[in-house]
Amino acid sequence: MNVLRFDTESAWVGAVCSLLRDRLRTKPDLKICLPSGTTPVGIYAEMSRSARAGLVSFARASVFALDEFGGLAPDDPGRTKHTLQRQLIDAVDLPPAAFHYLDPDVPDTAEHCKDYDAAIGDGFDLMLLGIGLNGHLGMNEPGSPVDSSTRRVELEGTTIQSSARYFAHHNLPRWGLTVGMKTVLESKEVWVLANGAAKAPIIQQTLRGEIDSSNPASLLRRHPNCSLFVDAEAGGRTS
Ligand code: PGA
Repeated sequence: MNVLRFDTESAWVGAVCSLLRDRLRTKPDLKICLPSGTTPVGIYAEMSRSARAGLVSFARASVFALDEFGGLAPDDPGRTKHTLQRQLIDAVDLPPAAFHYLDPDVPDTAEHCKDYDAAIGDGFDLMLLGIGLNGHLGMNEPGSPVDSSTRRVELEGTTIQSSARYFAHHNLPRWGLTVGMKTVLESKEVWVLANGAAKAPIIQQTLRGEIDSSNPASLLRRHPNCSLFVDAEAGGRTS
Protein backbone atom coordinates (compact mmCIF):
# COMPACT_ATOMS: atom_id res chain seq x y z
CA MET A 1 0.00 0.00 0.00
CA ASN A 2 1.37 3.32 -1.10
CA VAL A 3 0.85 5.84 1.72
CA LEU A 4 0.48 9.50 0.74
CA ARG A 5 0.48 12.00 3.59
CA PHE A 6 -0.66 15.62 3.47
CA ASP A 7 -0.15 18.34 6.08
CA THR A 8 -3.56 19.88 5.60
CA GLU A 9 -6.97 18.73 4.53
CA SER A 10 -6.93 21.15 1.61
CA ALA A 11 -3.64 19.69 0.33
CA TRP A 12 -5.20 16.22 0.68
CA VAL A 13 -8.27 17.28 -1.33
CA GLY A 14 -6.09 19.00 -3.93
CA ALA A 15 -3.88 15.96 -4.47
CA VAL A 16 -6.75 13.49 -4.83
CA CYS A 17 -8.56 15.80 -7.29
CA SER A 18 -5.45 16.48 -9.32
CA LEU A 19 -4.82 12.74 -9.73
CA LEU A 20 -8.48 12.08 -10.52
CA ARG A 21 -8.47 14.75 -13.24
CA ASP A 22 -5.32 13.10 -14.63
CA ARG A 23 -6.92 9.65 -14.65
CA LEU A 24 -9.95 11.01 -16.54
CA ARG A 25 -7.74 12.79 -19.08
CA THR A 26 -5.61 9.71 -19.65
CA LYS A 27 -8.60 7.37 -19.89
CA PRO A 28 -11.79 9.34 -20.64
CA ASP A 29 -13.91 6.16 -20.47
CA LEU A 30 -12.76 5.48 -16.90
CA LYS A 31 -15.00 3.04 -15.02
CA ILE A 32 -15.05 4.33 -11.50
CA CYS A 33 -16.73 3.41 -8.21
CA LEU A 34 -17.48 6.19 -5.72
CA PRO A 35 -18.46 6.28 -2.05
CA SER A 36 -20.75 8.66 -0.23
CA GLY A 37 -20.09 9.62 3.41
CA THR A 38 -18.36 12.54 5.05
CA THR A 39 -14.85 11.79 3.79
CA PRO A 40 -15.21 12.70 0.08
CA VAL A 41 -17.37 15.84 0.53
CA GLY A 42 -14.49 18.27 -0.12
CA ILE A 43 -13.19 16.14 -2.99
CA TYR A 44 -16.56 16.15 -4.75
CA ALA A 45 -16.91 19.91 -4.23
CA GLU A 46 -13.49 20.47 -5.83
CA MET A 47 -14.26 18.07 -8.70
CA SER A 48 -17.57 19.89 -9.29
CA ARG A 49 -15.68 23.20 -9.48
CA SER A 50 -13.17 21.61 -11.88
CA ALA A 51 -15.99 20.41 -14.13
CA ARG A 52 -17.66 23.82 -14.17
CA ALA A 53 -14.30 25.40 -15.05
CA GLY A 54 -13.88 22.95 -17.95
CA LEU A 55 -10.84 21.30 -16.37
CA VAL A 56 -12.30 17.80 -16.36
CA SER A 57 -14.95 15.85 -18.23
CA PHE A 58 -16.97 12.79 -17.25
CA ALA A 59 -18.67 12.66 -20.68
CA ARG A 60 -17.28 9.20 -21.53
CA ALA A 61 -16.82 7.89 -17.98
CA SER A 62 -19.10 5.56 -16.06
CA VAL A 63 -19.74 5.94 -12.34
CA PHE A 64 -21.03 3.26 -9.98
CA ALA A 65 -22.20 3.98 -6.45
CA LEU A 66 -20.31 1.83 -3.94
CA ASP A 67 -23.29 0.98 -1.75
CA GLU A 68 -26.77 1.99 -0.64
CA PHE A 69 -28.69 2.07 2.63
CA GLY A 70 -31.82 -0.03 2.97
CA GLY A 71 -35.00 0.66 4.91
CA LEU A 72 -35.22 4.35 4.08
CA ALA A 73 -37.78 6.32 2.09
CA PRO A 74 -36.86 6.38 -1.62
CA ASP A 75 -36.36 10.17 -1.49
CA ASP A 76 -34.31 10.18 1.74
CA PRO A 77 -31.53 12.71 1.04
CA GLY A 78 -29.07 10.58 3.04
CA ARG A 79 -29.23 7.71 0.57
CA THR A 80 -25.96 7.15 -1.28
CA LYS A 81 -27.54 7.75 -4.68
CA HIS A 82 -28.96 11.14 -3.71
CA THR A 83 -25.80 12.18 -1.87
CA LEU A 84 -23.62 11.41 -4.89
CA GLN A 85 -26.04 13.17 -7.24
CA ARG A 86 -26.16 16.29 -5.08
CA GLN A 87 -22.43 16.45 -4.34
CA LEU A 88 -20.99 15.50 -7.75
CA ILE A 89 -23.12 13.93 -10.46
CA ASP A 90 -25.45 16.91 -10.98
CA ALA A 91 -22.44 19.21 -11.44
CA VAL A 92 -20.54 17.17 -14.02
CA ASP A 93 -21.22 16.17 -17.63
CA LEU A 94 -21.74 12.46 -16.93
CA PRO A 95 -24.56 11.13 -19.15
CA PRO A 96 -27.49 10.03 -16.92
CA ALA A 97 -27.31 6.44 -18.21
CA ALA A 98 -23.66 6.24 -17.12
CA PHE A 99 -24.56 6.73 -13.45
CA HIS A 100 -25.24 3.32 -11.88
CA TYR A 101 -26.64 2.88 -8.40
CA LEU A 102 -28.10 0.19 -6.19
CA ASP A 103 -31.82 0.15 -5.43
CA PRO A 104 -32.62 -1.60 -2.13
CA ASP A 105 -36.38 -1.33 -2.80
CA VAL A 106 -36.53 -3.79 -5.69
CA PRO A 107 -38.51 -6.99 -4.98
CA ASP A 108 -35.52 -9.26 -5.64
CA THR A 109 -32.33 -7.73 -4.23
CA ALA A 110 -30.24 -10.84 -5.01
CA GLU A 111 -31.12 -10.59 -8.69
CA HIS A 112 -30.53 -6.84 -8.65
CA CYS A 113 -27.07 -7.33 -7.11
CA LYS A 114 -26.23 -9.91 -9.78
CA ASP A 115 -27.26 -7.42 -12.46
CA TYR A 116 -25.05 -4.77 -10.81
CA ASP A 117 -22.04 -7.09 -10.96
CA ALA A 118 -22.85 -7.84 -14.60
CA ALA A 119 -22.93 -4.09 -15.34
CA ILE A 120 -19.56 -3.67 -13.58
CA GLY A 121 -18.30 -6.38 -15.92
CA ASP A 122 -14.56 -6.93 -15.88
CA GLY A 123 -14.03 -4.66 -12.87
CA PHE A 124 -13.27 -1.05 -12.06
CA ASP A 125 -10.40 1.00 -13.36
CA LEU A 126 -10.50 2.95 -10.11
CA MET A 127 -12.33 2.72 -6.79
CA LEU A 128 -12.37 5.53 -4.24
CA LEU A 129 -13.12 4.24 -0.75
CA GLY A 130 -13.67 5.77 2.66
CA ILE A 131 -12.77 3.64 5.65
CA GLY A 132 -15.10 2.84 8.53
CA LEU A 133 -14.05 3.13 12.16
CA ASN A 134 -13.96 -0.70 12.17
CA GLY A 135 -12.09 -0.94 8.85
CA HIS A 136 -15.12 -1.57 6.69
CA LEU A 137 -14.93 -0.73 2.98
CA GLY A 138 -18.27 0.27 1.52
CA MET A 139 -20.57 -1.86 3.68
CA ASN A 140 -18.15 -4.78 3.76
CA GLU A 141 -18.05 -5.14 7.52
CA PRO A 142 -15.34 -7.10 9.41
CA GLY A 143 -15.53 -10.77 8.46
CA SER A 144 -16.73 -10.13 4.91
CA PRO A 145 -15.45 -12.92 2.67
CA VAL A 146 -12.67 -11.93 0.25
CA ASP A 147 -14.64 -13.46 -2.60
CA SER A 148 -17.92 -11.67 -1.78
CA SER A 149 -19.86 -10.08 -4.61
CA THR A 150 -22.47 -7.32 -4.54
CA ARG A 151 -25.02 -8.33 -1.90
CA ARG A 152 -27.28 -7.44 0.97
CA VAL A 153 -25.44 -6.95 4.28
CA GLU A 154 -26.38 -6.19 7.88
CA LEU A 155 -24.60 -3.18 9.39
CA GLU A 156 -22.56 -3.31 12.60
CA GLY A 157 -23.61 -1.19 15.57
CA THR A 158 -20.72 1.28 15.16
CA THR A 159 -21.63 1.74 11.49
CA ILE A 160 -25.28 2.36 12.33
CA GLN A 161 -24.32 4.89 15.01
CA SER A 162 -21.86 6.77 12.82
CA SER A 163 -24.40 6.94 9.97
CA ALA A 164 -26.48 9.28 12.16
CA ARG A 165 -24.43 12.14 10.65
CA TYR A 166 -25.98 11.53 7.25
CA PHE A 167 -29.63 11.67 8.30
CA ALA A 168 -31.95 14.33 9.63
CA HIS A 169 -34.01 11.68 11.47
CA HIS A 170 -33.49 8.82 13.89
CA ASN A 171 -34.65 5.95 11.66
CA LEU A 172 -31.07 4.80 11.07
CA PRO A 173 -30.54 2.07 8.46
CA ARG A 174 -29.60 -1.37 9.76
CA TRP A 175 -28.78 -2.96 6.42
CA GLY A 176 -27.68 -2.08 2.93
CA LEU A 177 -26.45 -3.28 -0.42
CA THR A 178 -22.75 -3.08 -1.20
CA VAL A 179 -20.25 -3.89 -3.89
CA GLY A 180 -18.31 -6.88 -2.55
CA MET A 181 -14.73 -7.45 -1.46
CA LYS A 182 -13.94 -9.46 -4.59
CA THR A 183 -14.62 -6.40 -6.74
CA VAL A 184 -12.62 -4.18 -4.38
CA LEU A 185 -9.63 -6.49 -4.37
CA GLU A 186 -9.74 -6.96 -8.16
CA SER A 187 -10.13 -3.26 -9.04
CA LYS A 188 -7.19 -2.14 -11.20
CA GLU A 189 -6.53 0.76 -8.84
CA VAL A 190 -7.85 1.60 -5.36
CA TRP A 191 -7.59 4.86 -3.42
CA VAL A 192 -8.46 4.72 0.26
CA LEU A 193 -9.27 8.17 1.63
CA ALA A 194 -9.07 9.12 5.30
CA ASN A 195 -9.16 12.48 7.02
CA GLY A 196 -9.61 13.62 10.62
CA ALA A 197 -8.39 12.34 13.98
CA ALA A 198 -11.23 9.82 14.43
CA LYS A 199 -9.68 7.69 11.69
CA ALA A 200 -6.16 7.62 13.19
CA PRO A 201 -6.63 4.35 15.17
CA ILE A 202 -8.05 2.37 12.23
CA ILE A 203 -5.37 3.76 9.91
CA GLN A 204 -2.73 2.59 12.38
CA GLN A 205 -4.32 -0.85 12.57
CA THR A 206 -4.68 -1.03 8.78
CA LEU A 207 -1.01 -0.24 8.19
CA ARG A 208 0.60 -2.00 11.13
CA GLY A 209 -1.83 -4.71 12.27
CA GLU A 210 -2.50 -8.18 10.91
CA ILE A 211 -3.67 -8.58 7.32
CA ASP A 212 -6.99 -10.18 8.08
CA SER A 213 -10.71 -10.02 7.19
CA SER A 214 -11.37 -8.77 10.73
CA ASN A 215 -10.13 -5.46 9.29
CA PRO A 216 -11.23 -5.46 5.62
CA ALA A 217 -9.04 -2.43 4.83
CA SER A 218 -5.91 -4.36 5.87
CA LEU A 219 -6.48 -6.75 2.92
CA LEU A 220 -5.59 -3.90 0.59
CA ARG A 221 -1.96 -4.13 1.74
CA ARG A 222 -1.76 -7.08 -0.65
CA HIS A 223 -3.32 -5.12 -3.54
CA PRO A 224 -0.77 -4.32 -6.26
CA ASN A 225 -2.01 -0.76 -6.91
CA CYS A 226 -3.57 0.70 -3.79
CA SER A 227 -2.85 4.15 -2.39
CA LEU A 228 -3.89 5.45 1.01
CA PHE A 229 -4.38 9.23 1.16
CA VAL A 230 -4.25 10.56 4.72
CA ASP A 231 -4.23 14.05 6.16
CA ALA A 232 -2.02 14.83 9.18
CA GLU A 233 -4.75 13.89 11.65
CA ALA A 234 -5.77 10.56 10.15
CA GLY A 235 -2.10 9.64 9.68
CA GLY A 236 -1.13 10.97 13.11
CA ARG A 237 -0.34 7.60 14.69
CA THR A 238 1.73 6.25 11.83
CA SER A 239 3.89 9.22 10.78
P1 PGA B 1 -17.25 8.60 6.50
O1 PGA B 1 -17.62 7.08 6.38
O2 PGA B 1 -16.64 9.00 5.22
O3 PGA B 1 -18.58 9.28 6.72
O4 PGA B 1 -16.31 8.72 7.66
C1 PGA B 1 -16.66 6.18 5.94
C2 PGA B 1 -17.21 4.80 6.06
O5 PGA B 1 -17.90 4.51 7.05
O6 PGA B 1 -16.97 3.99 5.15
